[in-house]
Amino acid sequence: MPGLNCQYGLGFTTLEREVDRLSLQVQGLLPGWLTGRLLRTGPAKFEVGHQVYRHWFDGLAMLHAFDFGDSMVRYSNRFIRSRAYCEAMEKGRVARGEFMTDPCRTLFGRVMAIFRPKPTDNANVNVSVLDDEIVALTETPMPIVFDPHTLETRGRLQFSSAIRGHVSTAHPHGDGKREYSYVIDMGRRSTYRLFINEKGEQRVLAELPSDRPSYMHSFGMSEHYLVLTEFPLRVNPLRLALSGHPFITNYRWRPELGTLFTVIDKASGAIIAQAKAAPCFCFHHVNAYEADGALLVDILAYPDARIVDDLRLDHLRAGAKIDPTSTLTRYRIPLDSHSSGAVEVEPEPLCDMRIELPRIDYSRRAGRSYHCVWGTGQTRLDNFLDTITKIELSQTAPATVTTWTEPGCFPGEPVFVARPEGIAEDDGVLLSVVLDANAGTSFLLVLNAATLAEIARASVPHHIPFGFHGNYFASSFS
Ligand SMILES: [Fe+2]
Repeated sequence: MPGLNCQYGLGFTTLEREVDRLSLQVQGLLPGWLTGRLLRTGPAKFEVGHQVYRHWFDGLAMLHAFDFGDSMVRYSNRFIRSRAYCEAMEKGRVARGEFMTDPCRTLFGRVMAIFRPKPTDNANVNVSVLDDEIVALTETPMPIVFDPHTLETRGRLQFSSAIRGHVSTAHPHGDGKREYSYVIDMGRRSTYRLFINEKGEQRVLAELPSDRPSYMHSFGMSEHYLVLTEFPLRVNPLRLALSGHPFITNYRWRPELGTLFTVIDKASGAIIAQAKAAPCFCFHHVNAYEADGALLVDILAYPDARIVDDLRLDHLRAGAKIDPTSTLTRYRIPLDSHSSGAVEVEPEPLCDMRIELPRIDYSRRAGRSYHCVWGTGQTRLDNFLDTITKIELSQTAPATVTTWTEPGCFPGEPVFVARPEGIAEDDGVLLSVVLDANAGTSFLLVLNAATLAEIARASVPHHIPFGFHGNYFASSFS
């Protein structure tokens, strides 16, 4: 492929092949309790006809499933038949505007796109549960429902008419009773609209006005609160509607605006606190919890938003020196600060080791105090994400770091799966899809989550393009 100039470049190339429950060769002994299914999504097709997608976040979505049981792993994959995918296949060209790629439009098409926009439903970012359905998500409010047995696309999940918005997050939160998410309604007066999904109904929890909405990939949740973090990567909604340029290229870095935190009560929707910090950017909130009269918000903070442009496919395939990792950083937001306006808060770096694609023991620790974060790290600026890293936080000592790495191997997000009877926060395994660049294939790696020692690996007969997120479901669906 032209421009492919690095070992890991294969991870940014198209995979066309779809397979169904392919038995994988396993090295090592899988835990007997691991009998569920890992479901992941990610971009897998980076060109349509003569057109190419420009950014890692743009490629057409494919689902990947790894079934565990009887000491075996079975692998299935399938493109999501979204409207973005089906229209692209019918027309032989990019059909819907993605993160950094727009269809080539005639003048008439550009005018039509302003008055009748067709947002993408290319759900290549995350797999989650909404409304008791397994859904694939991207950053528009159009979750794709799919059959977790067959990976067949069933259609879009329709939100209630009150949940109006153009942009959303692929990282909703759930606390076992409800799910929480938000949409951004772009207009002359834009609104962040946080909503609750409960028993099949969505209702608005809070509405926050914004003149220049922020690009936000995720938000935070503690036991009682949600926290919206507005980074100074901002957009003029009018430009977004009229410029004719791809989505993210309309956003501007406005460091003078700083970073703004708004804390919202999960029960009443009331604004509890607001805080302001120096400008930073992040994709991922790691966790948030309440302690000593403050909300502790932990994010993976970049000093600016340069990473967004660095993740262009031409950069990545050329082996450009980029740093796709960031610093685990804590902000302490006083919970009684609202009456005096937004208070200034300082970032507290928690660990020198930089990571991305963070995971915690979500089912037991989300919104609560926690100690373990797992993610992907980097050993060299020209080597993309080449390690799995565990950061263990301590209240009385510096964080400790453990890593897994293997020459020529490039791991994806490490998904933590707790051992059913386990008590310790790191008692379980990590599941990560790894590209073996020397072999030209990928494998599913199973690590001891406490020590990062290898337990097993299951070899896939082809490469799996680098994806973003997924989740493990204890039921195997089979
Ligand atoms: Fe993400």
